[in-house]
Amino acid sequence: MIKAIYNHIDLLYIFFIVGGDKNIKNGNVEVMNDLNNPYNPGAGAPPPELAGRDQVLNEIKLAIQRAHIGKPPRNYMLLGLRGVGKTVLLQRILGDVSSENTVQDLEACPDRSLPEQITPILYRILIDLDRKKRVGHGVKRALGLLHEFAAAFEVHVGEFTIGTSGPKASGDLAMDLTDLMVAVGEAAQQRGVAVVLAIDEVQYLSKTDLAALITALHRISHRQLPLIFLGAGLPMLAKLAGEARSYAERLFAYPKIGRLDEISARQALEVPARTEGAEFTDNAMAEILKVTECYPFFLQVWGDFVWRIAESSPFLIEDVEKASISAIEHLDSGFFRVRYDRLTDTQQHYVQSMANRGPQPVKSAEVAASLGIPPSKAAPIRAQIVKKGMIYSPRRGEVAFTVPKFDEFILRIM
Ligand SMILES: Nc1ncnc2c1ncn2[C@@H]1O[C@H](COP(=O)(O)OP(=O)(O)O)[C@@H](O)[C@H]1O
Ligand SMILES: [Mg+2]
Repeated sequence: MIKAIYNHIDLLYIFFIVGGDKNIKNGNVEVMNDLNNPYNPGAGAPPPELAGRDQVLNEIKLAIQRAHIGKPPRNYMLLGLRGVGKTVLLQRILGDVSSENTVQDLEACPDRSLPEQITPILYRILIDLDRKKRVGHGVKRALGLLHEFAAAFEVHVGEFTIGTSGPKASGDLAMDLTDLMVAVGEAAQQRGVAVVLAIDEVQYLSKTDLAALITALHRISHRQLPLIFLGAGLPMLAKLAGEARSYAERLFAYPKIGRLDEISARQALEVPARTEGAEFTDNAMAEILKVTECYPFFLQVWGDFVWRIAESSPFLIEDVEKASISAIEHLDSGFFRVRYDRLTDTQQHYVQSMANRGPQPVKSAEVAASLGIPPSKAAPIRAQIVKKGMIYSPRRGEVAFTVPKFDEFILRIM
């Protein structure tokens, strides 16, 4: 009992020190400190307020509910530049539907094959289906196929024991993956649940792997099995999928995830501040919306810096101006710099020439001309930069940056 009281006093004491030392500055009540900073900049970092995505969120959740009750499945591929919030949206959807359904996700990796990446994921889905209701011949059959699949494609995964190649695996990826995923879909159907398979950064899959995946989803769609695919990736993905299989266009809905509208951007900053007892003046808010162009990642970065820099609430335009200097320095030495440094000198010249033409998509022929090289020489350079994920082709013969405001960074350091 006495110990409990002491603990309590300790806590009060700590609270008192923290409060006394940090929360009063220059006579103003300061509500901001590192401890209660609500903003969360970073790849895949869940935002304190997921603003402006209700429509797409509800649409996809509805599609999953429909699959759950046996309606035809619908697949989605979220498309957008870096930092617009595709990953956190995907994660939110999975989190919201996971209690009723079986969900698994993976982030595609450029130098591993699809079988290697998807085998453990499908395995976990089957184990989960098995747990949902014991002894089902659908799950058993799918597990058998999975072992054969793993053996046929020489999958070596730590947690997964490889089986022996049986008569069912043909060694043709599209065929075997289709059989396997259909079996998973049938197992889910027997269980009366939907399976949600999410793959982030889909653009990193090879053309063959992407084609096989699309073939499998096509069959699942024909069979109306409750397996939903949620993909996310850079905007060129729609084109890549279409090139891999012509019917991809009809198989997926491609919601465009972009910058937030002003009302949502404001909400993304204001709601978290308000829960901590802080607010922005109208001028301060207008300035943030202007400099961030309402891109979600930059909103978090600016929120974070304003919070750290401002002495008191409400936050003023002066606070934002100071925060902008620090935020840009921070991005220039980290977020932008690491990407830029991955380019060779020749590739850097290429993107410099693009940056000189502004943020909008530019004609690759113009870039080649400004570099003084024929298009045939510029094409492989461009292809390398695309492969590194720094630029993409929004339309034939055009290139654009995959990272918003990358052009401004390049101009600053040129
Ligand atoms: N709708 C949103 N509202 C507020 N912040 C967001 C929103 N979507 C994403 N963010 C923030 O943006 C950053 C990038 O999100 P992320 O999902 O990694 O983007 P992407 O996968 O498109 O590159 C994260 O810090 C995240 O918290
Ligand atoms: Mg992402």
